[in-house]
Amino acid sequence: MPDAPTPIRTLDDLQVDGRRVFVRVDFNVPLAGDGDARTITDDTRIRAALPTVRRLLDEGAALVLAAHLGRPKGVDPALSLAPIADRLAELLGEKVDVAPEVVGDEASRLSASLRPGVADQRILMLENVRYEAGETKNDDDLARAYAALGDGIFVNDAFGAAHRAHASTEGVARHVEHAAAGLLLQREVETLEGILANPGRPLVAIVGGAKVTDKIGVIDAFLERADTVLIGGAMCFPFFKAQGHDVGSSLCEADGVEPARRALADAESKGCRLLLPVDLTLGREFSADTERRDLDGVDVEDGWMGLDVGPRTAAAYRDEILAAGSVFWNGPMGAFELEPFAPGTRAVAEAVADTDATTVVGGGDSAAALQQFGLGDRVTHLSTGGGASLELIEGKALPGVEALRRG
Ligand code: 3PG
Repeated sequence: MPDAPTPIRTLDDLQVDGRRVFVRVDFNVPLAGDGDARTITDDTRIRAALPTVRRLLDEGAALVLAAHLGRPKGVDPALSLAPIADRLAELLGEKVDVAPEVVGDEASRLSASLRPGVADQRILMLENVRYEAGETKNDDDLARAYAALGDGIFVNDAFGAAHRAHASTEGVARHVEHAAAGLLLQREVETLEGILANPGRPLVAIVGGAKVTDKIGVIDAFLERADTVLIGGAMCFPFFKAQGHDVGSSLCEADGVEPARRALADAESKGCRLLLPVDLTLGREFSADTERRDLDGVDVEDGWMGLDVGPRTAAAYRDEILAAGSVFWNGPMGAFELEPFAPGTRAVAEAVADTDATTVVGGGDSAAALQQFGLGDRVTHLSTGGGASLELIEGKALPGVEALRRG
């Protein structure tokens, strides 16, 4: 087992009273509608940053908040952070000023006029950091300009963006006296590292989704550590193909067959139980009103595609989850966005909610599924990071986290 990673600095290491703190948050939330009619369809990430924001305010700081929204190439008013600042103000019950730019004279003037400790004059939100070309290039001048908007303190609470080596997630840490994790980022890192390092046993990992190649690093990480790995979603078809089954018209990633074959062999040699579906729900095509039938087995005829795991699989996976000491879940069991093909994913979500095990759910589709079934608050930890949580589980160093480690 590799050595435990060096701890990261936290809010407990900071003295923020009377100082302006540059805070990176992940407010990359889904929006619907256009222009002034844009509305936030899921504000989970904004709510998740509130404990850090409130704690820094309570300790007497003023905040310069930085965040990205989408992937703009230059200034794009459709991706302005203004509606997000409005929602934050609503949730905090306090005024949040919005700078018309990311850095520059006006941002500097507004930052200089912040009054730490004075309600309604202590929070400034910068514009979308990706309006600046240097952000994603981790430009050092831009990183220095960010640092200059605060008083030598950087707090990173943007776990969802911690796998990016960008100026506001990594570079800025080089230009401040003190860099530390916010409460959300700290909790995310500790929980995800904890399930790898010291899990309650048995550790059951549920890995679903469309592509084996997207998740093979996660499957490998759990083949090393987990007692049982449950596979679901269209990624089971490369496994079935590797075993010589017919996959019919199912979505079956060709590049996934070899990694699947290797994972099956590794599971065998490492003594990890890797379970695949034993039955399927089929449709003629990817549509909610397609003809549908259950298949007791996994050999799919041409003209049919597997769109969900079947009821025997769902029941078997539920039993594994209920008997677990800890559970990690990433990726749906089928096309849960189509109601007729949601039962497998719903069954796993309900089992994850019902089990007494410690439950950690990676962001992205499994988080969306839990929210869709109204079970988001029934898990131990629901990650706000999609790519970031997967990379951390895979054992990759996250630049935004590494910048906060004690040197
Ligand atoms: C996310 O939504 O996963 C994070 O905010 C990262 O966004 P990005 O993939 O555009 O860097």
